[in-house]
Amino acid sequence: MDKVTKNKLLLAAKEAQNNAYVPYSNFPLGSAILTDDGKIYSGTNIENAAFGLTICAERSAIFTAVSEGHRKIKAVLLLSDTKKPISPCGSCRQVINEFGEDVEVVMMTNDGKEIIMSGNELLPGAFNDRSMENADEL
Ligand code: THU
Repeated sequence: MDKVTKNKLLLAAKEAQNNAYVPYSNFPLGSAILTDDGKIYSGTNIENAAFGLTICAERSAIFTAVSEGHRKIKAVLLLSDTKKPISPCGSCRQVINEFGEDVEVVMMTNDGKEIIMSGNELLPGAFNDRSMENADEL
């Protein structure tokens, strides 16, 4: 991803992070995704008193993009106010894989440290739509 696009994702993620609803964890995250046609969608983590209903920042961004008709994701940025970048949780890795098999995942801190990994590095051997076609080949 080029620098200009990465910066746009960062700005969108920062804005979303400011809207985080995190009264229980106090751990605000922002995410922004780039679709295959160059659109940017952002999301934040939204918690609930029934903790299990919490939605992560990445899935919030992806579900917004899909709701707007986008099915292919090229990049995901995850922004955390931590010393080291954090990586997407397992559920988010699976959802990222559903909509972007060649995705670039940028994990970034508010003070600019970053780690970049591919979707495949984060979730090798992912279960996907083709997995069910091979059910009798086990
Ligand atoms: N969280 C995310 O938004 N994304 C992740 O990939 C990891 C965890 C959120 C959920 C919860 O609001 C807070 O971080 C602490 O788990």
